[in-house]
Amino acid sequence: MSADRENLQRLFFSLWPEPEVAAEIAAARRACGIRGRAVGTGKLHLTLSFLGDVGPSTVDRLLEAAGKIAVPSFALDLARIGYFARPRIVWLGPAAVPAALWLLAAEVEAIRHRVGIEPEKRRFRPHVTLARRAQKPARMRAPEVISWPVSAFHLTESVRVDGGSVYRDLGRWPLTV
Ligand code: 2AM
Repeated sequence: MSADRENLQRLFFSLWPEPEVAAEIAAARRACGIRGRAVGTGKLHLTLSFLGDVGPSTVDRLLEAAGKIAVPSFALDLARIGYFARPRIVWLGPAAVPAALWLLAAEVEAIRHRVGIEPEKRRFRPHVTLARRAQKPARMRAPEVISWPVSAFHLTESVRVDGGSVYRDLGRWPLTV
């Protein structure tokens, strides 16, 4: 690996539930009887924007720009189980996306543009991945609505370790009240 590549970090902007909400999400996953590799309770998150491999100067610019975002906090009602066939993931997502989440995703997309990362081609489909390498669940209804109060967003590094990933928090910014 070249020295340049060694300095790259695989990053994404994200939302992380507090432990109580993460526990409710994990309970919903269990209740659905999903067949696949379950995402651990401490790893449950929602990706706002996946940035890919980023160099040190870009990381600094991302951190600075993220600190200037002013978007109101919001509640996310997780009520839908879904399946993405190609990555073979089962997910839990909101039945409706609050305006503040669209706004936050747009602000993050603007930062991405400003620091020179190519735009995300896929449309934003907010979801919390529950299981990977999974089969399509027989039952797609969430057991109950989980209300997730979202009061901050994060910049997270994904570090590959044998067969999986661990996540490292690089920054956390509160949403406005
Ligand atoms: P997923 O849960 O839908 O797989 C860390 O890997 C986070 O970034 C995950 O939430 C993952 O979404 C997302 N992610 C990983 N690779 C990605 C890619 N190439 N494009 C978009 N999102 C990606």
